[in-house]
Amino acid sequence: MSRLVYAVILASGKGERMNCGFPKQFIEIAGKTIVGRSIEAFEQNSGIDRIIVVSEPSHIQKITEIVENCGFKKVTKIVPGGATRFESSSHGVGEIAEDDAKVLIHDAARPFVSQRIINDCIASLDSCDAVNTAIKATDTIIEAEDGKMAAITERSRMMQVQTPQGFRAKTIKTAHSLAEKEGFKGATDDCGIVFRYGLADISIVEGERRNIKITYPEDIVVAGIIAENK
Ligand code: CTP
Ligand code: MG
Repeated sequence: MSRLVYAVILASGKGERMNCGFPKQFIEIAGKTIVGRSIEAFEQNSGIDRIIVVSEPSHIQKITEIVENCGFKKVTKIVPGGATRFESSSHGVGEIAEDDAKVLIHDAARPFVSQRIINDCIASLDSCDAVNTAIKATDTIIEAEDGKMAAITERSRMMQVQTPQGFRAKTIKTAHSLAEKEGFKGATDDCGIVFRYGLADISIVEGERRNIKITYPEDIVVAGIIAENK
């Protein structure tokens, strides 16, 4: 049997920077919630077998309703997240029993991920154990310390990381357990953890500018425009 392909959708954040009174993944963009749009992208992809959604415990019911109302058939589990993205990701990946499965971990806050990106991530995992999605940086990136410039990077070599990030299940499970042992819990993405422990070469799939992470109120305006021009 060919290897199962899972999507893990991380929807357990609080959306503090959005500051809208409820988690940003429940904001509606052109009639559909952000989390509903993210799940839909994976539901529609024929390469995806199963979807695990990670949710803040008190919102599991709400996600269940979205899944039922939208008729998503691939969502097999809705599991509680943790206090950090790292914990939420570990909870989601921890539900996968098969070590050789392919897993795409995706931010619920990126509802405009394309079918092309999902396809490329799945295909990459035939020849490597980890894959990141990234786009070329358009701004120059500096390091700052105590309000002062501490280092400058060469823009042409810089990329901004998006999701999905894909892994063989064993690779990401090993990464998560090493991070747990080390007490390294601040990771803002999963490839960063695999990279930290040198567990795999991480290939890069080209992201897209429209695959934005909805973070601040201004992003809602942009999201509305993207949704109307799909
Ligand atoms: N996430 C999660 N569990 C957490 C924190 C984040 O599942 N404890 C998810 C978010 O729901 C989001 C993705 O990880 O889909 C990326 O996180 P981010 O954009 O930072 O979302 P929030 O943490 O919700 O926003 P903020 O940092 O502004 O509070
Ligand atoms: Mg956050």
